[in-house]
Amino acid sequence: MKILTNKVALVTGAGSGIGKAIATLFAANGAKVVLADIHQINIEAVAKNIEANGGTALCFAADISRENDIDQLIDFTIHNFKTLDILVNNAGIMDNFTPAEDVSSELWDRVMGVNLNGPFYACRRAIKLFLKRKKGVIINIASIGGLFGGRAGCAYTASKHALIGLTKNIGYDYAQKGIRCNAIAPGGVNTNITHDMEPHPFGFERMMAGANNTPPPANPDDIAELALFLASEKAAFINGAVVTADGGWTAY
Ligand SMILES: NC(=O)c1ccc[n+]([C@@H]2O[C@H](COP(=O)([O-])OP(=O)(O)OC[C@H]3O[C@@H](n4cnc5c(N)ncnc54)[C@H](O)[C@@H]3O)[C@@H](O)[C@H]2O)c1
Repeated sequence: MKILTNKVALVTGAGSGIGKAIATLFAANGAKVVLADIHQINIEAVAKNIEANGGTALCFAADISRENDIDQLIDFTIHNFKTLDILVNNAGIMDNFTPAEDVSSELWDRVMGVNLNGPFYACRRAIKLFLKRKKGVIINIASIGGLFGGRAGCAYTASKHALIGLTKNIGYDYAQKGIRCNAIAPGGVNTNITHDMEPHPFGFERMMAGANNTPPPANPDDIAELALFLASEKAAFINGAVVTADGGWTAY
């Protein structure tokens, strides 16, 4: 039996990068996966690939910053797969390394909406289900920007610190209810997240000041392997934790 056989997993931001790698690895390890992303065409390609390799995947186009989209996404998952075992809050956006003085209210709201509010809406719905079933796993993809001040701009840094706080609070509160909630804090990973970035000169300069010791970026599959472990029973005693995967960057 594969490590996630009979499990149902929901992965947000599954159309690219880390989310795509997690969804693909989970499916290869027996999970039925729901792929959610704002870009439908990308998740359809990921689902096609999963099914070509004998896995099971369904797609749902959603903007995870919208509470109504999350409600529909969870309803879709339950309707099709009858349950939910593993929630991976992965979708996230960056903020052009914008320092506080230049963060518009629109940028702040957008980054908080995707990186924090969406994961919160999804956790809230998932926890209600998990409490009835007395089990469930949540994995939040944070960042080393959620642990330190100089790895991104103001809104991204604040959103990922808050996501780590959300993770610890849920991990603690529901520790006796069969629910585990952990965060992964990646360093640099080779994905599309910086694709259309227009770095703020001052914010970028501040971030780069600490980048001398940056190891080469990871492959998204490296992060997916960690997510697979955290999703599995092998990680039964790991809860409320933030697992850093940055090649040693922040160990200096
Ligand atoms: N790449 C890195 O170096 C790195 C480092 C630390 C943390 N992370 C985190 O990893 C996560 C995944 O990022 P990635 O690097 O794979 O980026 P990516 O841009 O390759 O993938 C992110 C996916 O999320 C989707 N998405 C964006 N906004 C969305 C929304 N509102 N609703 C639904 N889907 C949405 C995108 O369409 C995309 O498919 C993010 O939370 C990011 O902050 C990435």
